Amino acid sequence: MKILILNGPNLNTLGKREPEVYGTHTLSDLERMLEKSFPEDSFEFLQSNEEGKLVSRLNQCLDDPIDGVVFNPGAYTHYSYALRDAVSMLKIPVVEVHLSNLHSRESFRTKSVIAGVCAGQISGFGMFSYILGVEAVKNRKNQKD
Ligand code: DQA
Repeated sequence: MKILILNGPNLNTLGKREPEVYGTHTLSDLERMLEKSFPEDSFEFLQSNEEGKLVSRLNQCLDDPIDGVVFNPGAYTHYSYALRDAVSMLKIPVVEVHLSNLHSRESFRTKSVIAGVCAGQISGFGMFSYILGVEAVKNRKNQKD
């Protein structure tokens, strides 16, 4: 299965950014961990701080042979209708993931404008959220086959 791991703004700073909230592992640690955990799958990794780049990559999934997306939209989670629309038009499963528990933080983080058009949302398990996200994509894909 080919899975896109898409990360939004500020996730390039993992390891340095508020380690008490986001942990001490880097984005590259996270990507290597996924490759090790799912040797039978192939991954494409993309991180961008720009909303338009994330929209364009999701748009490409209309034509690419990608089976599913694990998406951490970062702060765009809370207000990007452009990303919501880009997810909404896809037929493949998109699972929204977050390192931190959105519901134990500031109230503005409890709302996701994207989760409603995703297969589901996983939040609060650190890097393990991405493992659960990949498992969820694979499970959803198999149900459709
Ligand atoms: C985050 C949570 C968001 O609220 C925040 O803006 C992020 C990271 C997470 O993974 O916990 O950038 O998506």
